[in-house]
Order: sequence, then structure tokens, then C-alpha cells
Amino acid sequence: MNLTERLKKIASLVSQGSIIADIGTDHGYLPAYLLKKGIVKKAILSDVSKGSLEKGRTWMQKNNLTEKAEFRLGSGINILNENEVDEIIIAGMGGILISEILEGKKEILNSVKKIILQPMQNPEILRKYLYKNRYEFISEHLVKEDFRIYEIIVVRLKEENIIEEKTNEKEPNKSNILDKNIANENKILKNKNISKGIIEVDDIFYEIGKDLIDKKDLLLAEFIQKKIKNYEAILDNIKNISGEKIEIKRNDCIRKIKTMEEILENLKS
Ligand SMILES: C[S@@+](CC[C@H](N)C(=O)[O-])C[C@H]1O[C@@H](n2cnc3c(N)ncnc32)[C@H](O)[C@@H]1O
Repeated sequence: MNLTERLKKIASLVSQGSIIADIGTDHGYLPAYLLKKGIVKKAILSDVSKGSLEKGRTWMQKNNLTEKAEFRLGSGINILNENEVDEIIIAGMGGILISEILEGKKEILNSVKKIILQPMQNPEILRKYLYKNRYEFISEHLVKEDFRIYEIIVVRLKEENIIEEKTNEKEPNKSNILDKNIANENKILKNKNISKGIIEVDDIFYEIGKDLIDKKDLLLAEFIQKKIKNYEAILDNIKNISGEKIEIKRNDCIRKIKTMEEILENLKS
């Protein structure tokens, strides 16, 4: 049973012996692989689409895995009960949809040890949501499949911290990543920025997972270069346009490119 690189990487993050829920399972390849390899004890497959859930069921039947599987039709984590699963996987959906799913039956997340998220679009909106809603970032990962680099974010709920957003829009040209020394050390979330339980989060970490910078992920340079190209393309598109909103956008792009170039520079050291 072969998995794509993206799904293989997600599978590698699931803990041995756990009970999992695969939300939005569709084809069911991931839970089937995890059961077949003996990595998980039990898997709950769920999908909001009847047709997709049937695909998952058929794949499990074909692989004689239905004894250790449950199938639930419904939206997001609403189909789960408290203390039922150790780990949850929500992969292959947009970051906004994933945030909405996490907003569902929230109470079940208290007992979940690991939530593995793989947004296809808008990962920055998902990270912002996670920071603001007291999630602890366990680890972040990049995986390349064909020409695309996918992001995987592993979190769990954390009670202690209240996160407050800090954006840099008022100081668009001020590059702060090196000022704060955050590219080198784990400082931003660990020391002086924590006061009265409030953590300020540099908005660059919505776009580039902090853990990826800290551990100098092997794909990070390529990932950042792609992002810089995107921002340069935006700048090119708006080069002959003026207006207040456009200026904010332009300054934001310039600031982000500068910060990303600094991160790239830091990766070399
Ligand atoms: C592109 S597939 C991803 C399949 C698999 N998780 C993967 O990563 O390869 C997205 C699946 O999510 C399902 N989906 C969309 N919204 C959902 C929701 N709110 N709750 C559960 N499943 C949902 C869709 O029906 C579809 O089967």
C-alpha cells in the first residue's frame, strides 16, 4: 500500500498505538495505511460527503480493515465524542475550512494529544487562528510532492496562554526579525514578549512556521524563495497603481520580502 509523499509525511507524525480520527478522509488511504502498518489501534473515518465516506469504506473493505475502523458521516469534529480519540488528522482542505472545523465541537479537543493539520491554501489564516486560540505548536513540517511544497502543522490545545496579535503594518519598512533575534533563538514566544499571559506574535510566523526556522528545515530555503517570488509578482502587478490601500499592500510586500531575505541569510549561518 503506497502513499503519496504528502500523506506519507502525515503518517510519520502519527503516534504508535494511538486511536485516530481522520476528518475529511475521502479515499481513506491514510487511515488504511496506518492500520495496515499497525501504527494505530483504531481509526474513525469521517467525511461530510456521503460519496467520499463510501470511497473510504470501500478502500477499507478491500484491504480487510473494517474491523478496526468506524465510519461517520458529518461535518468536522462534531462527529466525535469526548475522550474517544488520541489524535486527529485534518488534511487536504483549506486553512479557513480547517479553522472552522476546529471551532466546531471544541470540547472534544481537550482530551486530544495531537492534532495534525495540513492546509492546502491559506495556511497563514490557520496559523493566526491557532495562535489566537491558545494552541500549542508541537512541530511544523514541509514536504515536497512533485513541484509543490506542503505545510503540516502539529498542535494541541494549551490552557495557559492568551495570544494577542501584533502586526507591523504601522511600521511597514521596519524589518524586525533580526532586531528581535528570533531567527536564531526560540525567543519570541519564550521570554520577554510574554507578559501577563499575553504573547505577541510576529505576523511573519503566520506565513512561515516558526519551528521550520528554528530547526532550519531542509526545504525552508526553497519554500521561502517561492514566497518571495509571489510577493515580487504582487509588487509587479501593482507597480503602476496608487491609493492608500495599495500603498499599505506595497509596504507589506516590501517588509515581508525583506524579512524573508533575512531569514534566508540566517539559514546560511
Ligand atoms: C481533498 S479531500 C482530502 C482527503 C484526504 N484527507 C487527503 O488529505 O488526501 C477533502 C475532503 O474533505 C471533505 N470535507 C470538506 N469539508 C468537510 C467538513 N466540514 N467535514 C468533514 N469533511 C469535510 C470533502 O468531502 C473531501 O472528501
